[in-house]
Amino acid sequence: MMKAAVLHEHGGPEVLKYEDAPRPEPKDDEVLVKVIAAGVNPVDTYVRQGMRSKSGTDNGPMIIGYDIAGIVEKTGAGITKFKVGDAVYAYLPIARGGGYAEFAIAKEGEMSLKPKNIDFEKAAAVPLAGTTAWQALIDTAKLERGQTVLIHGGSGGVGSFAVQIAKARGAKVIATASTANQDLLKQLGVDQPIDYTTTKFEDVVKEVDVVLNTVRGDTLRPSYGVVKKGGIIVSITDEPDPAECAKHGIRGSRLMAHPDARAIEELTKLIEANKITPIVSETFPLQDVAQAHQQMETHHTRGKIVLKIAQDPKG
Ligand SMILES: NC(=O)c1ccc[n+]([C@@H]2O[C@H](COP(=O)([O-])OP(=O)(O)OC[C@H]3O[C@@H](n4cnc5c(N)ncnc54)[C@H](OP(=O)(O)O)[C@@H]3O)[C@@H](O)[C@H]2O)c1
Repeated sequence: MMKAAVLHEHGGPEVLKYEDAPRPEPKDDEVLVKVIAAGVNPVDTYVRQGMRSKSGTDNGPMIIGYDIAGIVEKTGAGITKFKVGDAVYAYLPIARGGGYAEFAIAKEGEMSLKPKNIDFEKAAAVPLAGTTAWQALIDTAKLERGQTVLIHGGSGGVGSFAVQIAKARGAKVIATASTANQDLLKQLGVDQPIDYTTTKFEDVVKEVDVVLNTVRGDTLRPSYGVVKKGGIIVSITDEPDPAECAKHGIRGSRLMAHPDARAIEELTKLIEANKITPIVSETFPLQDVAQAHQQMETHHTRGKIVLKIAQDPKG
């Protein structure tokens, strides 16, 4: 058995119960990871509330959590890339989850060796948000050196990785956040930070190559007019309006991120080259997972929040 935060029913943060659960056993193509830290993402709160019916609790108790960092405990017969004792991190698919627990299952295509220069808590902040930022800016927008990108929500989980990926790519970065997070935007290397509480971005931004929208609400509508012809809006929240995109001669794409070891390996290289530093603003013990969800649901988290599940055996 192991300790985990288990969902027996959908609802508010209080439905997450810290209790004993069966320890998973890896199949041939699976790796069992002893979890040291687990990242918390907005989607965790949606699944908890039952917004993703297929991954609901209808089939019995479930364990959510899609970001883990830990140590390989056991490998299935078909595993070739990882061995017992490896420090790893992984982006678990929504259909499986299992991260809020002392042990979790990952597949080779979802994981990478952990960057050597960061601890497990920082590593657990990376996979889902970092992969989303990578798939938005690099795989979808094909951001290039010298281009300009506007990032809505540059201080959040996805935004803080997106800013650093874009800077590492050699792009000029404009990003929005509230007054309290202007210092973080500057620390991340944003060239033109915008305080959305005092300045309308559409008044000061024009002719960008790429917009990355990580915010829900009214950021898309004024975005169409700030993109140069042939440019692109990638949104990870609301769907860009095809008619508006056509009117402005731009492309629009709504991205659904997915686990991809190749993206995590690229992130590992950038972290080890000190081009990306994960921003962890708060950590909670697994027992206090409900508090972590309350913070996530403010939609004003600075960087990432992480659950600490076990001690680093070497730290
Ligand atoms: N499609 C996908 O595959 C995918 C993947 C990951 C995430 N998502 C979604 O993308 C969204 C962002 O995810 P996340 O993990 O980055 O969330 P997060 O960590 O909660 O991001 C919150 C950030 O958004 C900023 N923000 C809030 N309102 C803003 C506004 N009006 N203008 C500019 N910034 C604003 C906040 O900054 P201030 O506190 O300074 O306001 C905060 O730093 C969520 O809705 C999530 O569900 C989708």
